[in-house]
Amino acid sequence: MLCGLGAWLPPRIVPNSELADTLDTSDEWITSRTGVRTRHIADAGMATSDLAVQAGERALKSAGMSNVDAVVLATTTPDHPCPATAPTVSARLGLGTVAAFDVNAVCSGFLYGLMVGAGMIAAGDTSSVLLIGADTYSRILDPADRSTRVIFGDGAGAVVLRAGDPDEPGAIGPIDLGSDGDNNNLIAIAAGGSREPFHDGGDPYFRMRGKEVFRHAVVRMTQSAQTVLRRTEWPGGLPDLLVAHQANVRIVHAVADQLGLPREQCAIHLDRVGNTAAASLPLALADAVTTRRLTAGTRVLLASFGGGLTWGACAVRWPELSLT
Ligand code: ACO
Repeated sequence: MLCGLGAWLPPRIVPNSELADTLDTSDEWITSRTGVRTRHIADAGMATSDLAVQAGERALKSAGMSNVDAVVLATTTPDHPCPATAPTVSARLGLGTVAAFDVNAVCSGFLYGLMVGAGMIAAGDTSSVLLIGADTYSRILDPADRSTRVIFGDGAGAVVLRAGDPDEPGAIGPIDLGSDGDNNNLIAIAAGGSREPFHDGGDPYFRMRGKEVFRHAVVRMTQSAQTVLRRTEWPGGLPDLLVAHQANVRIVHAVADQLGLPREQCAIHLDRVGNTAAASLPLALADAVTTRRLTAGTRVLLASFGGGLTWGACAVRWPELSLT
C-alpha cells in the first residue's frame, strides 16, 4: 500500500536560454524536440543523499510516520561508488539501524524499488518501507555534450509503503518489469567500474544514443503498460492518468497514442524539471497531486524506461493522502 508521498527539487532553476549561452543549442530546439523548458540543478557540494533526505522527510510526514522497517534508495548517482547511499540517508532521517540499500535500474529504478519494497512487505517480516528515487545527473554529464545536458535535471521523490489489503486504495500492482542487457551500451558510463577502472583513463561521463533509446523507450513502455492493463480490471482497460517516465514529451505522447489513451490523460512534469531519472515518477506523482490531477480513487498507470536497458509498468489506485 502506498501511504505517503514527498518531493524535493534543488532551488536553482536553469532555463533553456542559460544552456544556450554555452552550448550549441537553442530554446526552440530543446522545447520542440523534448518539451523541457527548465530544470533544477543542485548547487556545488550538494549530493544525492542531500536531495533524498529532503524527499524522504516529506514522504514520512505525508504518511504520518516517524519510523519504517527499511529504506530503499533508487539511484544511479550515489554519493560514492561504495558504499551504498541508502544507509547514510536512513541515518540522517533518524531511522536507526533498519535495513537500507540502493537499487540501480537507472531511470526505471523507482519501479524496480516499488517491486522490491512491495515484495519485502509481502514476505511478511517488513511492515513498512521508505522508497526514495533520487538522482543528481548534473554531476555525471559531460559539460560539452548538448545531447544530454539539455534533457536532465536533479531531484528526489519518495513514497512510503505499508502492509495493507489488496482492495484498499493505495494498493500497488500488478507490476511488470523487464530488461535487455544486449543493448546495455545505449545508455552508459564507460569508466569507473570493474570493466574499466577510473585509473585506466576511460570516459567518465554519462553517454546516451538518444535516437535508438527513443525507439526502445516507446516500444518497451507500451508493451509493459499493456501487460499491466491486461491484468487490471479497469473500465475500458485504460487508466485515468498515465504517469510515464518524464524523459521527452514526444515519448510520453507516443506511448499514450499506442495505448489509445487521449494525450490529455498524460501527466507532464518534464517541462519544468527535465528528466530526473529515478526521481522522475515520484516527482511527477507529486506534481499531479499538487495540481489536483491525481485524487483519491484515480486509476494511475506508471510506466518507466531506462539504461540497462530496463523498463516497467505498474497500476495503482490512488489513496487519500496529503503532501507537505
Ligand atoms: N541542440 C541542438 N541540436 C541538437 C541537440 C541540441 N541540444 N542535440 C542534438 N542535436 C542535433 C543532432 O546533432 C542532430 O544533428 P544532425 O541532424 O546534424 O546530425 C539533430 O539535432 C537530431 O538529433 P537526434 O539525436 O536525431 O535528435 P532527436 O530528435 O532524437 O532528439 C533526444 C534527441 C532529445 C536525446 C531524443 O532522442 C530522446 O529524447 N531520446 C530518448 C531519451 C530517453 O528516453 N531517455 C530515457 C532513458 S535515460 C536514462 O535511463 C538515464
